[in-house]
Amino acid sequence: MDFQLSEEQQMVLDTARDFARNELLPTAAATDKSGTFPKAAIAKLAELGFLGMAVPDRWGGAGLDVLSYAIAMEEISAGCASTGVIMSVNNSLVCDPILRYGDDAQRKKWLVPLAQGRRLGCFALSEPGSGSDAAGMRMTAIRDGDDYVINGTKNWITNGREADVCVLIAHSDPSERHKGISAFVVDALETPYGVGKVEDKLGIKGTSTTSLVFEDLRVPVANRLGAEGDGFKVAMSTLDGGRIGIAAQALGIARQAFEEALQYSRERVAFGKAIGDFGAIQEMLADMATEIDAARLLIWRAAAAKEAGESYSKLSAMAKLYASEMSARVCHKGLQIHGGYGYVKEYNAERHMRDARITEIYEGTSEIQRLVVARAVQIEIARGADRL
Ligand code: CAA
Repeated sequence: MDFQLSEEQQMVLDTARDFARNELLPTAAATDKSGTFPKAAIAKLAELGFLGMAVPDRWGGAGLDVLSYAIAMEEISAGCASTGVIMSVNNSLVCDPILRYGDDAQRKKWLVPLAQGRRLGCFALSEPGSGSDAAGMRMTAIRDGDDYVINGTKNWITNGREADVCVLIAHSDPSERHKGISAFVVDALETPYGVGKVEDKLGIKGTSTTSLVFEDLRVPVANRLGAEGDGFKVAMSTLDGGRIGIAAQALGIARQAFEEALQYSRERVAFGKAIGDFGAIQEMLADMATEIDAARLLIWRAAAAKEAGESYSKLSAMAKLYASEMSARVCHKGLQIHGGYGYVKEYNAERHMRDARITEIYEGTSEIQRLVVARAVQIEIARGADRL
C-alpha cells in the first residue's frame, strides 16, 4: 500500500491548489451572493486541462489518471464548490460516457471540444416525477426512420442553462422498464431544446440547475450512445464514476470549512485564552480532521479501483455516502466553532454548510448509496467473500 503521490499527481495537486487559493477562494463568496456562473474560472479550468482530465490526449483531454481527477476536484471545490460541480459534471457525466460508449465519430465531434472546454456538457436523467427511481422515467425517444423523436421534461440539470451538449437518457421502448432505455448525445447547437425553470437553490449558487424541455425533437440515430436498450447501464455506470467526483467535492468543502474553523479557533479569545485551547473545541477539531482523512482514503481507494479497471460501484457509493455526510457534519461543527459569526455572511462557514448539503442528494441520495452498498455486500456474501 502506497499513499505517496506520483510526481504527476503532486503537480496536479499543486496546480489546482494554487488556482483555488489565488483565484477561486477570493471570489467564491461573491459568486454565491450574485448567483452568477463562474465563467472566467471555467475558462481557466479549460486552460489547465481540468475539463477532460481523464480523457486521453488524442481525444483532447489531459490524459491523467482517476486519482489526479479526484485530487483536483478536492482542491477546486475547496476554493469554490460551484466551480467544483461544473467541472465534475463535464468530466464524469459527459466526457466519461462519450469516451466509454461513444464511437470515434462521436468522440471527435463532441468529446474533443468538451474535454478542451470549447463546449460544456450536462447530463439529463432525472425528471419531475423520477429521481431515485431512475428507470421510472417518462421521457420517450421513439425511432422514426433515421431519427429518434424525443418528448418529455428533465429536471435538476446542473449546467442546464450554459451547456450545449447534453447526454440524455430516455425510453426508446416505453413498454420495457430499464431494458427499454437508451442514451443519446443531444447537440443544442444542431437540435435546440428548451431550457425551463432555473431553480433558486440553497447552495452551489454559481451553478444553474434547470429543467430541460423536449417537444418532438428529432435527433439523428447517429447520436445514440451505445446500443439501443443499453441506456440504463450507460447511466448507472456513468454515475459510478460521477460519485467519486461528488465525494471529492464534498471533501474539498469540508476541508475548507475545517481549515477556516481551525484558524478561527486560534484567533478567537474567550475566558482569557484562544477557544482552540478548550477541550470542547479540540474534540470537534479532532473529529473533523479524522473524518476528513477517512473520506479521502475511501475516495482514493475508489479512484484506484476505477483506474485499475476493477469493479468500483460499491466503493464509489461508499465514498460518496461517507464523504457527503461527513461534509455536512464537519460544516455544521465549523459553523458552531464560529458561534454567532458562523451564522452570518461575514464568514464563509454558513456558505460551506449550504454548499455541502447538496452532496447528500445529487448523483444519488445517501439512501440510494446505502441501497447500492447493501445490494453489493449481499452479493459478495452470497458469493462466499471471506472479508467485505
Ligand atoms: N453499472 C452497470 N449496470 C448497472 C449498474 C451499474 N452501476 N447498476 C445497475 N445496473 C444494471 C443491473 O445490472 C440491471 O441490469 P440487468 O437487468 O441486465 O441485470 C439493471 O441495471 C437494472 O438494475 P436494478 O434492478 O438494480 O435497477 P433499479 O431500478 O432497482 O435501480 C438504483 C437501481 C441503484 C436505485 C438506480 O435507479 C439509481 O442509482 N438511482 C439513483 C439515480 C441517481 O443517482 N440520479 C442522480 C441523477 S444525476 C444528477 O444528480 C444530475 C446532476 O446534474 C448532478
